[in-house]
Amino acid sequence: CGIVGYVGNDDVKEILLKGLEKLEYRGYDSAGIGVRGDDGVKVFKEKGRIKALREKVDADFNATVGIGHTRWATHGEPSVVNAHPHQDSEGRFTLVHNGVIENYSQVRNEYLSGVEFVSDTDTEIIVELIAKFAKEGTTEEAFKKALDVLHGSFALGLMDRDDKDVIYVAKNKSPLLLGKGEDFNVITSDAMAMLHLTNEFVELMDGEVVLLKQDEIIIKDDEGNVVERDSYIAEIDASETEKGTYDHYMLKEINDQPAAMRKIIQEYQDEAGNLKIDSSIIEQLNNSDRIYIIAAGTSYHAGLIGKEFFEKWAGVPTEVHVASEFVYNTPLLSEKPLFIFISQSGETADSRAVLVDIKKRGHKSLTVTNVPGSTLSREADETLILHAGPEIAVASTKAYTAQIAVLSILAQVAARELGRDTGIELMKELAKVTTAITAIIEDAPKIEAIVKDYLETSRNAFFIGRTLDYYVGLEGALKLKEISYIQAEGFAGGELKHGTIALIEEGTPVFALTTQEKVNLNIRGNAQEVAARGANVCTVSMEGLDQEGDAYVIPRVHSSLTALVSVVVYQFVSYYAALHRGNDVDKPRNLAKSVTVE
Ligand code: G6P
Repeated sequence: CGIVGYVGNDDVKEILLKGLEKLEYRGYDSAGIGVRGDDGVKVFKEKGRIKALREKVDADFNATVGIGHTRWATHGEPSVVNAHPHQDSEGRFTLVHNGVIENYSQVRNEYLSGVEFVSDTDTEIIVELIAKFAKEGTTEEAFKKALDVLHGSFALGLMDRDDKDVIYVAKNKSPLLLGKGEDFNVITSDAMAMLHLTNEFVELMDGEVVLLKQDEIIIKDDEGNVVERDSYIAEIDASETEKGTYDHYMLKEINDQPAAMRKIIQEYQDEAGNLKIDSSIIEQLNNSDRIYIIAAGTSYHAGLIGKEFFEKWAGVPTEVHVASEFVYNTPLLSEKPLFIFISQSGETADSRAVLVDIKKRGHKSLTVTNVPGSTLSREADETLILHAGPEIAVASTKAYTAQIAVLSILAQVAARELGRDTGIELMKELAKVTTAITAIIEDAPKIEAIVKDYLETSRNAFFIGRTLDYYVGLEGALKLKEISYIQAEGFAGGELKHGTIALIEEGTPVFALTTQEKVNLNIRGNAQEVAARGANVCTVSMEGLDQEGDAYVIPRVHSSLTALVSVVVYQFVSYYAALHRGNDVDKPRNLAKSVTVE
């Protein structure tokens, strides 16, 4: 799931381990480094945390060139053998790989019959293939030849025992950056991992081959011609990636939300206080007859709320699609579609697959992301930045609220340009939202008590709501399952009786959210239906719609923007549920922060 590499003068072991620690937030199950010293190459691998790997590394082995990897299992279980780097059977080549090779069995049968593999990974096939081709040519030629044979997604870093000063690098569909320093150069799949060394990066394109050396980075295109490419400075403040006094990144990031809201209000407003969005984006919107929002996970849930803004305020028909479905089951498209990609990381492979496809069809695209310079941002026509600051915890919190806020601004500007009066003074309302979120943060102990009352020993939970509250329920359920491992599902309140109600037993926790006046009584009716069958109903309502017995009442905000506030209650519910179960809140099992495989 993560790659780092370094060629320079300093102790590479420490540099790689530090880089891998910075990548920990992305989720992984094993890790390893391969380092090149005067006495050849040594590989150290371990299952579990980087801390365990650190203990395994031979501190006395001097080396200044190396590659490192955190693995999130795709082919083969998490184990030391399956961890990267992988080597060919003669130990000449050492390789780290992110991604999935689709034709690995075909490659193995066609080129590598007779080779005995030690791991279950597709990566070992790549390194054996390179070793085989290297018998007939240079390493660069062998690397290139192997790349031409492989299908799928990959980011690769390769070391050759016989050529100690170079790391060979290539990518296809998976993210990988080249970083420049004084007397050293690096590779990394995530700028964050190398920020302690450099913030100057060079983009790498699919199909290119790179020779990374201490004093130069040689990029060659598909035909072998040298490519000159300018570097850029990654605008990430390394200090923002620390968790400070908070116990967990997730807690910090929940608490970051008021500041993120304020930053968004500031960034998307001109001096006169008018909403500000680049005219090229407005033009895109005005020229389109339908918006297709493409996203995954939490970002998909933010997209569902965004649809409401685009349709209700701007009057633009909008569809929201899960990226991994859209790419293989593309619906009929309108004549002038505009694609909006919502992605915290800007790296999600499923979303990128859609972007690549719709670009081929000649359609316009806009990425809404938290990471400037990310793949989806670079490859789409336009970008809107979330300004939420780095999000490290796997469970997304502040990116979700930032996404909703930015989408609301975009929709409001679209409405203005289309001459529609939404009747809402958006920035004022977002300021009220900020105050409301702050109030909930101060009230966190009360939400912790709710967790004790409703989720202490439960193995499942349901989240119901209607209209916007239904979408927030989907996000609440996702958050809870991600980190507490309680089986949780979100349902439209009215749909419950059509099947799911069969699951309600004595004591089953049901979270009922009600912030929308027109369905307040309906959802309360649904809550009664489940309560009558034994459910332990926790009602979260909004000031003005609240009734006696509600477990939590959020401050009143504009009815279109309630998701921004109500979700914070669910974020805390999930956080405390995970905490009380003793789970690793920031690094939940099996999950990765950004999934760069399809
Ligand atoms: C992963 C993360 C989720 C996230 C999803 C989409 O699965 O674990 O928390 O919502 O990817 O990520 P993105 O970076 O595209 O928003």
